[in-house]
Amino acid sequence: MVHPRRVLRLGVNVDHVATVRQARRIAEPDPVVAAILAQPAGADSNVAHLREDRRHIQDADIRRLKKAVRRLNMEMAIWPGVIETALEVRPERVTLVPERREELTTEGGLDVAGGGPRLARAVRRFRDARILVSMFVGPDADQVRASVALGAAAVEFHTGHYANARTAAGRRADLDRIRAAAALAASLGLEVAAGHGLNLANVSAIVRIPEIEELNIGHSIVGRAILAGMPAAVREMKALMRR
Ligand code: PXP
Repeated sequence: MVHPRRVLRLGVNVDHVATVRQARRIAEPDPVVAAILAQPAGADSNVAHLREDRRHIQDADIRRLKKAVRRLNMEMAIWPGVIETALEVRPERVTLVPERREELTTEGGLDVAGGGPRLARAVRRFRDARILVSMFVGPDADQVRASVALGAAAVEFHTGHYANARTAAGRRADLDRIRAAAALAASLGLEVAAGHGLNLANVSAIVRIPEIEELNIGHSIVGRAILAGMPAAVREMKALMRR
């Protein structure tokens, strides 16, 4: 049976525009400009991760993004200073993620089931501030149920395992897990998103999961933007040099 088609939204994560900027610690390239450019092209929201070490996105970026874009989804771990910025800026949504200082990127899902009182307190503060809370979790029934119990409105499934699977069988198994977890989450009334490691080669199978309403994609889009924009950037410089 063909499932009634829901609208599938795209959240464009601009962290890695800030990564390039922070390599020089100057103003450009500006992730806020990237977010603004992404909107007319089809970005339904923009995503930015304020990490504890502020390695890419800065607090000021979050403030500027909130003013510049239609919907801001702020990714964050529950670090004290980061929570304060979120409560001050009031993004449309916060996505709670685990964070390890030494990791290159968010390596796995949040342990909501074992999150304890600190996580519960953080969720309560966001709910009191009427900021929608999404939990970035692995495709796991216990984590989905724990997210409902804590009062999250949404879950985002970490698709990193699926994206990095080395064999077709492994990829199929990961996909089955995501499908089952998405069906459970939707049946419990959660909004369902997915993201991490999605790219032009692997996104189609995820798109076909009917319960998923939003994909959040960063690295692949920013990487493609660099390559697709390279000829124009070189032409621009060459034209100036010829003048
Ligand atoms: N969703 C969440 C919760 C993430 O932590 C990330 C990575 O920052 C993404 C989506 C985007 O992942 P990628 O950059 O691999 O597309």
